[in-house]
Amino acid sequence: MQLCVALDLPSMSENLELVKKLRDYPLWLKVGLRSYIRDGKPFLDEIKKINSSFKIFLDLKLYDIPNTMADSAESIMQLNVDMFNIHASAGKRAMSEVMSRLEKYEDRPIVLAVTALTSFSEDEFSAVYSETISTKADQFAKDAYEAGLDGVVSSVFESNSIKNITSDNFLTLTPGIRPFGESSDDQQRVATIEMAHKERVDFIVVGRPIYKAQNPSEVVEKILKEL
Ligand code: C5P
Repeated sequence: MQLCVALDLPSMSENLELVKKLRDYPLWLKVGLRSYIRDGKPFLDEIKKINSSFKIFLDLKLYDIPNTMADSAESIMQLNVDMFNIHASAGKRAMSEVMSRLEKYEDRPIVLAVTALTSFSEDEFSAVYSETISTKADQFAKDAYEAGLDGVVSSVFESNSIKNITSDNFLTLTPGIRPFGESSDDQQRVATIEMAHKERVDFIVVGRPIYKAQNPSEVVEKILKEL
């Protein structure tokens, strides 16, 4: 299991301060839509300057027509990131087109699919997809697997069943982690590292329990020991 730290601080300088504090650890760093829109590629470059072995997960959740998604995926190749994600609900054809466009690159990033956004209530979800969340999330995971993606973003509690219906090697990345049972903040369903282990999660995403701590590197060190 690997640790991915969410860089969700309000400015690029605060995010980079955090990255500097964590420079000695083997980490994935998650750059989201807001940071990327605001700070762009220079932010990604600054991260790699601090430690070139940091891995970057660009969390942009692409959703568009297949050709535009594939074009965008190819542009992401120029950013030197190690992982990015697309929406499974864009459809199997869009996912396949993204993967076949990346085929020619020897060293392509890991590509994950977003199944069901966890912000949806059951009612809100079925108004859009006419299915229950769990049925549709399983279907999305299967589609992503068949389209040749590397894995999915899911809740911890779905990880094991997703691997059972796809493959043990199909990756799961899960937010909503409170490593040692800390405050859940605004997350509805949170899980500890122990639960993530039981559910065979590959990447845990942790934001606030790290960047809001008095001593973020102490928390990171403690988490890494548990992985
Ligand atoms: O601070 P916290 O550990 O809750 O941060 C979790 C990160 O994962 C945030 O960047 C949040 O946007 C992201 N995320 C999430 N739930 C999802 C997808 C992404 O919490 N379903």
